Amino acid sequence: MAYQLTPLTNHETGAEILGLDLKAPVGTELRNALNDAFARYHVLVFRDQKLTAPEFAHTGEIFGELMSHHHKDVRASGHPEVYVVRNEQIAPGKYRIQGETFHTDHSNHPIPPKATALHPVSLPTHGGDTQFVNMHNAYDDLAEAMKRRIDGLRAVHVFESRFSPRKLRPLNEESSKALPPPGVHPLVRLHPENGRKALYLNPVRIESIVGMPEDEALALVAELMAHATQKKYEYRHQWRYGDMVIWDNRSVMHQANGDYDMNEVRHLHRIMIAGEPVLAAPPLGVAA
Ligand code: SIN
Repeated sequence: MAYQLTPLTNHETGAEILGLDLKAPVGTELRNALNDAFARYHVLVFRDQKLTAPEFAHTGEIFGELMSHHHKDVRASGHPEVYVVRNEQIAPGKYRIQGETFHTDHSNHPIPPKATALHPVSLPTHGGDTQFVNMHNAYDDLAEAMKRRIDGLRAVHVFESRFSPRKLRPLNEESSKALPPPGVHPLVRLHPENGRKALYLNPVRIESIVGMPEDEALALVAELMAHATQKKYEYRHQWRYGDMVIWDNRSVMHQANGDYDMNEVRHLHRIMIAGEPVLAAPPLGVAA
């Protein structure tokens, strides 16, 4: 099936895909081409899709098997694996914006998701963009001394870190019981498909760095985050109806923007694709 792929930045972060109907069957050749593009560009923006919840879930299967979300009680009607992202008022004048600071999804899971995808149901008139930053490029640009410092380090990721910059939606009883043990992951991971190294950070969930005093660990994560979230690593997605956007949690962090009128509804369907155990990057000086 013919389609047009257009890079969305000059640093291989984001590509737009036109001319595909994701409801149509996807053969092996197209599936492989899309997965190759995904490993190269990390964020794919399919335009002009109109998908019910089950149809959206089905499109995710181009990239792998669906994975369930932590919150078992926030599902779109029609499909158990489709989660709902929506601005919600939690107190007078106070709103919860899911995903409002940079993170990678479900990193507290011992086997975190390969990918996450969103498809809008209702969008604000202005704002509500999603920002993505390329963690391969951020790693490559680190000073050698920093690369040496973080070589081999591992972080403990819990559901909500004591140091999280924002409060997460609390889990109900069913979801709490289903929570996996914390993930202990390398700070530098190896992407299993493109073979590149990437920083693997998530201040919402990192509780500690193994063997490092707390103040030192917090300062290190803050320094790496300040580096990784520079504009030069970013693709900023302005949502349009019909978008199906899928990103690689192994190579980008993302954040939602709560910069819109909270009287308007921003409502998207969300799915996750199962990943593989996080591969530690080989020590510096050893080829991948
Ligand atoms: C998320 O963090 O998964 C949600 C991102 C968004 O709503 O833009």
